[in-house]
Amino acid sequence: MKNLFQPYDVSLESEMLEPLDFNRRSRLKETDRCFKAEILNVIRLTDMEKLFQVRILDESEGERFSFLPGQFVMVEVPGYGEIPISISSSTSRTGYVELCIRRAGIVTGALHRAKRGAHIGIRGPFGTHFPIETMKGYDVLLIAGGLGLAPLRSSIFAVIENRADFENVHILYGTKSPDQLLFDYQYEEWGRIDDIDLQVIVEEPDNEWTGPVGLITKLLDGIEIDPQRTFAIVCGPPVMFKFVCSRLSEQGMPMRRMFISLERRMHCGMGKCCRCNIGSTFTCMEGPVFDYWTVMNLKEAI
Ligand SMILES: Cc1cc2nc3c(=O)[nH]c(=O)nc-3n(C[C@H](O)[C@H](O)[C@H](O)COP(=O)(O)OP(=O)(O)OC[C@H]3O[C@@H](n4cnc5c(N)ncnc54)[C@H](O)[C@@H]3O)c2cc1C
Ligand code: FES
Repeated sequence: MKNLFQPYDVSLESEMLEPLDFNRRSRLKETDRCFKAEILNVIRLTDMEKLFQVRILDESEGERFSFLPGQFVMVEVPGYGEIPISISSSTSRTGYVELCIRRAGIVTGALHRAKRGAHIGIRGPFGTHFPIETMKGYDVLLIAGGLGLAPLRSSIFAVIENRADFENVHILYGTKSPDQLLFDYQYEEWGRIDDIDLQVIVEEPDNEWTGPVGLITKLLDGIEIDPQRTFAIVCGPPVMFKFVCSRLSEQGMPMRRMFISLERRMHCGMGKCCRCNIGSTFTCMEGPVFDYWTVMNLKEAI
């Protein structure tokens, strides 16, 4: 009979777990720490979105913190909960990260009420990233709808800060109305960068709007794309990236060259709680960035 009082051999368990790793345990070690952080600054972008500049309190931890475009952090607001938020700043910025947050419910509501100096927790960075390195030497389409500019913004910085590494660059952005445009104070600056085509469209213009009107796919009409020489990153609501990606697909762009970010409800952010899975795919670990081919093969992904 098994002796229930025999000391439990932990090393045996870790040996047994090895084949089931799926590359998760090694990544957990780097990301399961919660950093104490401080809100340095809050910038109002629209009625619904604010930009939070967040600094990790421990200076050496802060210096070590790095991420890649498209990755996200879990933001903990003490007493309210923890939520996934994409990092919106440039990967080259040191000292703080920027998070663009829409007021949606309990945690985001608490954040929108928070003042400069408020303390929060940050875990991460988590998830897959947009393959900016692979895109070097190619034409690049950076397309966002609405809040999609938040996860796309760090890729925009990565491309414009290394402009010479890419061929033609188009940034296309669309929202419902002009008052919903995010980061409008930066368009002029981005548009001035060497040879970058930046176009903004709205569905419902106000009296002052002089730009194009319609859906974001309308902007694609005016762009000549060499499908075999182009990569695309498309961020926004599923209905938007479905239309944009199928349109690019029809033009001959390989599905493996289009990248999107899938959002799911998340709890742990590191493959433990099974809140974010689509079938056997954990969006927090294998995503949120996927190529379009993978998304189309994930049942119920969009
Ligand atoms: C990888 C990832 C990156 C994200 N990046 C950003 C970002 O950069 N900026 C940003 O503003 N938001 C982002 N989100 C969405 C954000 O996490 C949710 O808005 C947030 O969790 C809502 O929390 P809450 O407590 O305020 O809302 P709750 O009180 O929990 O819910 C309020 C409403 O928000 C909806 N909601 C809750 N969670 C999500 C979710 N994950 N996706 C969509 N709707 C949700 C609920 O259905 C409900 O209608 C991201 C989500 C993921 C998964
Ligand atoms: S959020 Fe917990 S498994 Fe993905």
